[in-house]
Amino acid sequence: MTVADLGAVLAIEAQAYSHPWTHGNFVDSLAAGHLAEVLEGDGGRIAGYFVAMEGVDELHLLNLTIAPAGQGSGLGSALLETVLAHARSRGLAQVWLEVRASNARARALYARRGFDEVGLRRGYYPGLRGREDAVLMRRVVAAPPPAPTRGPATATVAAAAKAAGRGGTDGVE
Ligand SMILES: CC(C)(COP(=O)(O)OP(=O)(O)OC[C@H]1O[C@@H](n2cnc3c(N)ncnc32)[C@H](O)[C@@H]1OP(=O)(O)O)[C@@H](O)C(=O)NCCC(=O)NCCS
Repeated sequence: MTVADLGAVLAIEAQAYSHPWTHGNFVDSLAAGHLAEVLEGDGGRIAGYFVAMEGVDELHLLNLTIAPAGQGSGLGSALLETVLAHARSRGLAQVWLEVRASNARARALYARRGFDEVGLRRGYYPGLRGREDAVLMRRVVAAPPPAPTRGPATATVAAAAKAAGRGGTDGVE
């Protein structure tokens, strides 16, 4: 995503949300170097996008949106897989996100893609009738790589992995 995409992105935001991100929100994200990509549909038109912020060992998904006309045809799931692939390729262990408590469709999408509901942020979002809670969701995407150890230390790592039910030191999902 670049600033040149923001006209199309903001048009989708306005259709998709009661409280859309502003031009300034996107510009700030791009300036901060957040991971931001658009999904191109027919004729090169923007069909969806995501914005995510990389942390030390995690990716925080800030925005994932599919244009209403294209919703329900698998694009959101595909874009979420792209986000997870980015986390994996960067060696980030977890992906975090907040979702409106009332957004049952998005909560179900994330839950089916391995996200757990791990917390509630009360009054996090502006709503049409007062503030609305956010559900905090997290997906573990990879274990940190095993430390390169030798001798007894290696045996200890292997035993710990076995005890944890992993049966080895490969990354897990
Ligand atoms: C949430 C959103 C990103 C999902 O994208 P999408 O392209 O519509 O979703 P998909 O077509 O990949 O479908 C995802 C799941 O929802 C189901 N679904 C599709 N259309 C649906 C509908 N109208 N009602 C309920 N479920 C529906 C699909 O069957 C699919 O189920 P599965 O996970 O078992 O395969 C998209 O609807 C969107 O942008 N919504 C508005 C913005 C938003 O809420 N963003 C998330 C903020 S955290």
